[in-house]
Amino acid sequence: MEIEFVAAKAKLSPKAALACVVHEGAALDGPLAQAAAASRFTGAKGQTLDVLAPSGVEAARLVLVGAGKAEAVDALSVEQAAASAYVAVKASGLTLLRLELPDASPALAAQAALGVRLASYRFDKYRTKEPAEKKPSVVKTEVVTSDVDAALAAFAPMAALADAISFTRDLVSAPPNVVYPAEFVGRGKALASLGLAVEILGEPEMMKLGMGSLLGVGQGSIRESQLAVMRWNGAADKNAPPIAFVGKGVCFDTGGISIKPAENMEDMKWDMGGAGAVAGLLHVLAGRKAKVNAVGILGLVENMPDGNAYRPGDVLTSMSGQTIEVINTDAEGRLVLADAVWYCQDRFKPKIMVDLATLTGAIIIALGNDMAGCYANNEELAANLIAASNVEGEPLWRMPLPAAYDKKLDSAIADMKNTGGRPGGSITAAMFIQRFVNNVPWAHLDIAATAWRTPSSTPTYPEGATGFGVRLLNRMVAEKYEG
Ligand code: BES
Ligand code: MN
Ligand code: ZN
Repeated sequence: MEIEFVAAKAKLSPKAALACVVHEGAALDGPLAQAAAASRFTGAKGQTLDVLAPSGVEAARLVLVGAGKAEAVDALSVEQAAASAYVAVKASGLTLLRLELPDASPALAAQAALGVRLASYRFDKYRTKEPAEKKPSVVKTEVVTSDVDAALAAFAPMAALADAISFTRDLVSAPPNVVYPAEFVGRGKALASLGLAVEILGEPEMMKLGMGSLLGVGQGSIRESQLAVMRWNGAADKNAPPIAFVGKGVCFDTGGISIKPAENMEDMKWDMGGAGAVAGLLHVLAGRKAKVNAVGILGLVENMPDGNAYRPGDVLTSMSGQTIEVINTDAEGRLVLADAVWYCQDRFKPKIMVDLATLTGAIIIALGNDMAGCYANNEELAANLIAASNVEGEPLWRMPLPAAYDKKLDSAIADMKNTGGRPGGSITAAMFIQRFVNNVPWAHLDIAATAWRTPSSTPTYPEGATGFGVRLLNRMVAEKYEG
């Protein structure tokens, strides 16, 4: 999608779709007022009204989009309205969209452009026979603003964000025969062009480090497990301790020997949504040259049943030295993270460490599909994450780490077992990871419910991977850890 910022009086093409974002109760001109009254269009949030051949308007089509009450309109509601406008006309056959906002400030114009960029993402690589008239036709959006240069400047970091989110969505939506651990790291390495340093550890290197927990998960797969270390050193002091992010990258989760039911198993291609978000975060930090030192660690494996697969009953020795009795091979994400977070804190001594993982079905039961669970051993980090999540519209809900639940992980023969029972399943999974975290301020985001959307539920989340986490972490870094 090409974005251009234009002045209000810029000539409008008669072949364009014009979308006007209006406040609730805004005064409309005669015929528009009549159309609105005849369609119960009030300008309430989320409403759209199509006026196909409006008289007196220099456009092929006019869409009114409601932004809600003027007092309540904020950047996110303008972004969503702009995204709705795009969705309303995307397959119209028209190629140009012009957006007029209730307030032409450069900041809101840029935010609207971000909404259109996110909404126009489409994973259509594997559709070879889609008729042209079904494909989106809008390829360019003009956003009206009072200050074109200021809007362009405000949009630059948002364009970097949209690029990064598209990168994450492409990775996470890709089929599991295409994106397996080595291919994932290959796409990560290509980010060297943005200035990221990417280092890969294969199975021999991980073996040397004693990562028996991560390697145990991957041993049933013919695909080699990988650990990727992505680094962006943008701080003035290149040696300052970094902030660190760790992602669960299970490129496909069959459950292993504790195999999952067939129904919906294809969804487990999304099980690398955490690693995808971490890679996307490093992408945007490099893309907008953030003044921060950041590390991203991706634990990439495939969880398969096989003659060589790990079994329930096996005892794995993690890099930390702690031993783990495997009760269920489907509780594999925590085993991957156990070694990845340990390695991260051991090698980088980070200021903070945040892991992201599509970790448990239990978090979907607990919170539903619209928010991710946030666990933290540090109040300040939790507050920073939640504040950023609210600003970016990627909601987090704080979850507890009750000390009394820790014993649910005790094993009769090893230091711990890998499941804590069904009650509070997301909590005990988080507490398992916590056993591998030393004194570093740490947070764990269980994004099992938010990493993908099928079908699309909001205009900025087209069907498929959402890229959840990239926005909120990028915001938190910008506000709290740069400079
Ligand atoms: N990848 C799954 C969690 C998941 C489930 C993500 C549904 C997205 C949608 C994870 O590896 C898993 O299988 N967890 C088990 C843990 C259980 C065996 C203790 C679960 O949640 O059922
Ligand atoms: Mn699993
Ligand atoms: Zn999994």
